[in-house]
Amino acid sequence: MRCAQLKLKLQTTTMNTPENAQNSNDRTNDSTTHFGYKTIAEDEKESKVAEVFHSVASKYDIMNDVMSGGMHRLWKFFTINRVAPRPGMKMLDLASGTADLAIAFAKKVGESGEVWATDINESMLRVGRDRLLDKGLVTPVALANAEHLPFADNYFDVVTVAFGLRNMTHKEQALKEMHRVLRPGGRVFVLEFSKVNEFLQKPYDFYSFNVLPKMGELIANDADSYQYLAESIRMHPDQETLKGMMQDAGFEFVKYHNMTFGVCALHEGVKL
Ligand SMILES: C[S@@+](CC[C@H](N)C(=O)[O-])C[C@H]1O[C@@H](n2cnc3c(N)ncnc32)[C@H](O)[C@@H]1O
Repeated sequence: MRCAQLKLKLQTTTMNTPENAQNSNDRTNDSTTHFGYKTIAEDEKESKVAEVFHSVASKYDIMNDVMSGGMHRLWKFFTINRVAPRPGMKMLDLASGTADLAIAFAKKVGESGEVWATDINESMLRVGRDRLLDKGLVTPVALANAEHLPFADNYFDVVTVAFGLRNMTHKEQALKEMHRVLRPGGRVFVLEFSKVNEFLQKPYDFYSFNVLPKMGELIANDADSYQYLAESIRMHPDQETLKGMMQDAGFEFVKYHNMTFGVCALHEGVKL
């Protein structure tokens, strides 16, 4: 299997409220976007997101388990089952980070398949690459911005992105890129935090804005990144809005599965 490291380029403010944000996409106007509840210049977002993930990379996996009470494993397990990786498949995992999905896929596709683990952030991807190698999985790992993918048109059978789309500056552009690199008949899967059921909203808000940043401080010595996490979730498009964005990007048969009362949702679609 080919191995490649593709080097792609890896910083006011008014406060937003989350109420209207989950029905909108990330863009506020031509030149500004959201970074959590802050409105910043579009060209600042990439480096601000990069700071967050450089900062959390070494503690990312343990924080995921602690913050979600291990539930992220169940969300990913459900996703892997929906994707149903098989020998020979060509698969692209975007915003792969510490490579949970890429690891599961690489175990299934065999010698005849390809799994590309890609991310814009070197610190995160280093952890992912090391985890793949530790498991004896030799598979391509590439630094790549999901908004400008270094892959040919109509190449992959499956494209996945787990908890990554929320952090991207131009989500529509990233969705179009996913559509471009998929072969006709190929499938896309977007696992992301979403709009929680109303009855859970209050305790979920309490947990997100009081407990989560404190945990981040205690375990990762980084409260700010976990405050960003809570805010970025509230600013992310809700289930129906993301479904519409995927349809606008060209995907057909778009549907979603709510998990844990909408704490997160798996969206999937097909390129015809
Ligand atoms: C919350 S982590 C998710 C990691 C992994 N997919 C998982 O489910 O555990 C989000 C990842 O998105 C990556 N990311 C953010 N913006 C990106 C972009 N434009 N292109 C590719 N990756 C991006 C970050 O570097 C980070 O590794």
